[in-house]
Amino acid sequence: MQEVTLREIVKCTFEQKTAVRDIRNQESVRRSMYTDHMIGLEEHLAWIERLEKDTRQIVFVVFLDGIVSGLVSVNALDRLHKKSDWAFYLDSKARGGLGAVLEFSLINYAFDEIGLEKLNCEVIETNPAVVKMHLKFGFVEEGFRRSNIEKDGKRIGVHFLGLTKDDWVIKRDEISENYKSIFEKFQVHIDSTLVSV
Ligand SMILES: CC(C)(COP(=O)(O)OP(=O)(O)OC[C@H]1O[C@@H](n2cnc3c(N)ncnc32)[C@H](O)[C@@H]1OP(=O)(O)O)[C@@H](O)C(=O)NCCC(=O)NCCS
Repeated sequence: MQEVTLREIVKCTFEQKTAVRDIRNQESVRRSMYTDHMIGLEEHLAWIERLEKDTRQIVFVVFLDGIVSGLVSVNALDRLHKKSDWAFYLDSKARGGLGAVLEFSLINYAFDEIGLEKLNCEVIETNPAVVKMHLKFGFVEEGFRRSNIEKDGKRIGVHFLGLTKDDWVIKRDEISENYKSIFEKFQVHIDSTLVSV
């Protein structure tokens, strides 16, 4: 069994914080994000410093057997409307099952621990595999905003996906069963001091 721990980035050590930057700067991650320049150390640390005061974002470092392996973030947390966006990325060496485990765990955390009613995410047009992945976890495509961002000198669109708590409650057991052989290989622990909405 592999141990997966999510720890808030603001509580991580300097080395752990900088290990996240190395992953964020991997080509396969930059390709999937809204911004794709190489992130410098100062820019990275300034972003983490801003997070300390930002009550609308919870950013977790993903540890796989103690090794920094990616990031999961809850963004635009809206306590009034009980909704949020989320996103994630993994070290290219840590993929293969871990993504599914994190998606399942984060959805449960959002609805059961944060107390949300709606979870949203956005995926750029050039990343159709991740759109398919979210659909397998019950997300519904709620719109496609065409020509919405600029990437590599081209305008590209963005898929908008959303999942309601009601849909999740209906679907989660079946999804858990579908991924049983993967999920039993991982034990997930989310280390958070969050006060629910
Ligand atoms: C998205 C990401 C976190 C998924 O993690 P992962 O460990 O590769 O995911 P898994 O291996 O658990 O895959 C889960 C499912 O999605 C599919 N999938 C995920 N990424 C895929 C890809 N790039 N190409 C094809 N299929 C993919 C898997 O085949 C699997 O399908 P299955 O359920 O039918 O078996 C990881 O690929 C990543 O960091 N990508 C770059 C950043 C990114 O795109 N983030 C999402 C932005 S919204």
